[in-house]
Amino acid sequence: MKKVTISALQKQKQNNQKITALTAYDASFAMMFDEQGIDVLLVGDSLGMVLNGQDDTLQVTVADIAYHTRAVRRGTERAFVIADMPFMSYASAQDSYQNAAQLMAAGASMVKIEGGRWLCDTVTGLVQRGVPVCGHLGLTPQSVHVFGGFKVQGREKDKAQQLIDEALALEAAGIQLLVLECVPTELATRVTSALSIPVIGIGAGRFTDGQILVMHDMFGISANYMPKFSKNYMADGGTLRDAVKRYIDDVHAGDFPSDAHSFE
Ligand code: KIV
Ligand code: NA
Repeated sequence: MKKVTISALQKQKQNNQKITALTAYDASFAMMFDEQGIDVLLVGDSLGMVLNGQDDTLQVTVADIAYHTRAVRRGTERAFVIADMPFMSYASAQDSYQNAAQLMAAGASMVKIEGGRWLCDTVTGLVQRGVPVCGHLGLTPQSVHVFGGFKVQGREKDKAQQLIDEALALEAAGIQLLVLECVPTELATRVTSALSIPVIGIGAGRFTDGQILVMHDMFGISANYMPKFSKNYMADGGTLRDAVKRYIDDVHAGDFPSDAHSFE
């Protein structure tokens, strides 16, 4: 089986073939998602919330992500595995090198960091040292206490322009993939056409190059909370495998997310 690489994902953007992504935290689910043909698996720091029951992602450590990355790597043959750099693990470029090294050694093929222009030197330094980087803009959950809650970002005209500028700056610094979370559909569409690297959305409308969901939301098992932009693919019953397949088929067809799962 041919492994998904960053060049394969880049080609998907060029050919208008949607990229499908899910979070995964263990070998068993990673294997199931991989068998259904998912392109990208993210070992997200959302694990602090969905696995550990915390209110935010701030308590997650590099050791936590490394442990789950090793598990996901063991379960994965084809998909491209990305590991989240947790809160404060990339506070300085120097910190980021040591911490990214642990995640790459655990089996990640790329690391993801949250934030804009202030990260440009860190991105360039990581890439120069052989660590591919995914950016993350919009609602960046590690900054939830700065935002004052999990809120849609980029609604005002100046904030929207700022986000586009930061995305371009990160691309110039060397990111090879961008996650865009909880921004209006129109802004996500503009970012997607402004960048030549693939943009993967969550709560960012259907016109990005791909979609990602937190697996627990996609299965409808997050204790008592379902974000507007997510969809419970188990709502009509069936097997977990069928749910994953329906999600992948919907993303390929451009049927997910609908307007009901997007922000104006
Ligand atoms: O941690 C996570 O699950 C994420 C996705 C929501 C993109 O960062
Ligand atoms: Na994350």
